Amino acid sequence: MSVGLRPVGRGDVDALARIYDHYVATSTATFELDPPGAGMWPEKIAAVTGGGWPFHVAVLDDDVVGYAYVAPWRTRPAYAHTVEDAIYLAPGATGRGIGGLLLGSVLEAAAAAGAREAIAVVADGDTAASLALHRRAGFADAGRLERVGRKFDRWLGTTLLQKSLAGP
Ligand SMILES: CC(C)(COP(=O)(O)OP(=O)(O)OC[C@H]1O[C@@H](n2cnc3c(N)ncnc32)[C@H](O)[C@@H]1OP(=O)(O)O)[C@@H](O)C(=O)NCCC(=O)NCCS
Repeated sequence: MSVGLRPVGRGDVDALARIYDHYVATSTATFELDPPGAGMWPEKIAAVTGGGWPFHVAVLDDDVVGYAYVAPWRTRPAYAHTVEDAIYLAPGATGRGIGGLLLGSVLEAAAAAGAREAIAVVADGDTAASLALHRRAGFADAGRLERVGRKFDRWLGTTLLQKSLAGP
């Protein structure tokens, strides 16, 4: 298996939409309820990269099989050095370590771009792999919010995790 990682390009929007729409429709990994399709991605890519933050894709056999980016955790300016990550792999690409590679690369680029703290917000439900992925990458549990989301007729909490990207 040879996985390549590279910055996202405009030509990737259909692959991003395929991956994300799948999880919107079938899982609690995201609190989005209706698959947004390809339309939202050009604006999302522009917002992330225009803000100076990394947005990377994983490529396997010429197919985009995953993506990860960071974006500001909160918009108020004092939060400028704190980012939240988002990471999604195509269903056929999970469980092979690609998530670890992608998360590592996006966090390294985020640190180089000035991020000092990274936050992960992991919803309850089908997210054991995400919790394991973030803990393995050095994120520590930072608390829980209970019953903050409702999807598929159930109330869902979120687990917050945090990793310092600041050097020693
Ligand atoms: C979360 C995700 C990015 C992880 O990427 P991945 O390449 O599948 O992760 P890995 O193969 O490196 O596995 C990560 C860890 O999760 C564990 N894991 C995988 N599937 C698991 C499951 N169903 N239950 C429990 N642990 C699981 C692995 O054993 C591994 O732990 P380890 O490093 O201690 O051995 C990927 O599974 C995914 O896209 N999931 C759906 C979308 C999602 O949940 N995104 C995150 C939103 S916060």
